[in-house]
Amino acid sequence: MREKLEQLAEEMTGELAGIKDLGSLESFEVEKLGRKSEFNALLKGLGALSPEERKTVGMRANELKGKIQAALEAKKAELSSAAAGALAETEWIDVTVPGIRPPRGHLHLTSQAIAEITAIFRRIGFTRVRHPEVDWDWYAFESLNMPGDHPARDEWETFFMDAPPDAKLGKMVLTPHTSNGQVREMEKKVLPIRMINISKCYRRQIDVSHVPMFHQFEGLLIDRKVSVTHLKGVLDHFARSFFGPDRVTRLRPFHFRFTEPSFEVDISCGICGGTGRLEGGAKCRLCKEGWLELGGAGMVHPNVLKAGGIDPEEWGGFAFGWGVERTKAMQSGVRIDDIRVLYKSDFRFLRQF
Ligand code: PHE
Repeated sequence: MREKLEQLAEEMTGELAGIKDLGSLESFEVEKLGRKSEFNALLKGLGALSPEERKTVGMRANELKGKIQAALEAKKAELSSAAAGALAETEWIDVTVPGIRPPRGHLHLTSQAIAEITAIFRRIGFTRVRHPEVDWDWYAFESLNMPGDHPARDEWETFFMDAPPDAKLGKMVLTPHTSNGQVREMEKKVLPIRMINISKCYRRQIDVSHVPMFHQFEGLLIDRKVSVTHLKGVLDHFARSFFGPDRVTRLRPFHFRFTEPSFEVDISCGICGGTGRLEGGAKCRLCKEGWLELGGAGMVHPNVLKAGGIDPEEWGGFAFGWGVERTKAMQSGVRIDDIRVLYKSDFRFLRQF
């Protein structure tokens, strides 16, 4: 029995030395020293020995068990500190590493466009002004050569205010275009005029290229001896500055009641270079035959000058009015195919810019 004990103890010591992790050490302890272990079973057999033998073998057994337990504790300590060391290797934090920057916000695309447009016109002597966004029929229509029952008004799908009309100025409206600023600017009685009026406008419309509340920028220049050539020069300056140095504008005959002659302004397409065709000969899908529509323009009608108290014999000028969102959507690098996203507060969209 004594030999058996010695042999078991030796095996256990050898096995213990080979253990490399705390989990195996734990199962070792249960298996080899626990109640159901072989070692324990042997000890139970002590009772069958003579008192003399029981004493010596018992003492030796306790000694062996004590040694193994001590070795086990030492192993446990060794493995625990190794585990802590390994954790320190993999889980360390370098507090000096620069953090991840949160994404920075930016101005709304419409605000960006307003700032860009203002700066471009300021360079050629235009001053940004604001005029009412809720205004009288007189400024939005009547003074612009559009009498009360004129069908031309239908184009401006107007919201009328539920407010008492003014005897002279008519009903109150949410301005459907920034042209209400023309006569208001003339009423300041400071000539010549170089105005850029950027404001909110409202129309009863909604689809991929229209929202009920949008923005327009309206240029008005009144001076002596102003011709269409000046208008074309200003428009080309804008096209080059806003869209790129190789872009030009084209004037197409059109009709507005408040300008004569009137034009629709197009800009050469930045994708096909104004040819309407892509490199392989395929049709450009962005434009119509090489041109994109920007908006209206024309030479200020004499009746509008008169409504603003200006003598059309001495003074003349031009005006143009375009959508801010539409113009921004056509800038290269922006390319928005549904204008409504601008007012949906969808951060996935806004983050693209
Ligand atoms: N006000 C016109 C519109 O909203 C555009 C325009 C402005 C046309 C100035 C000519 C001159 O469609």
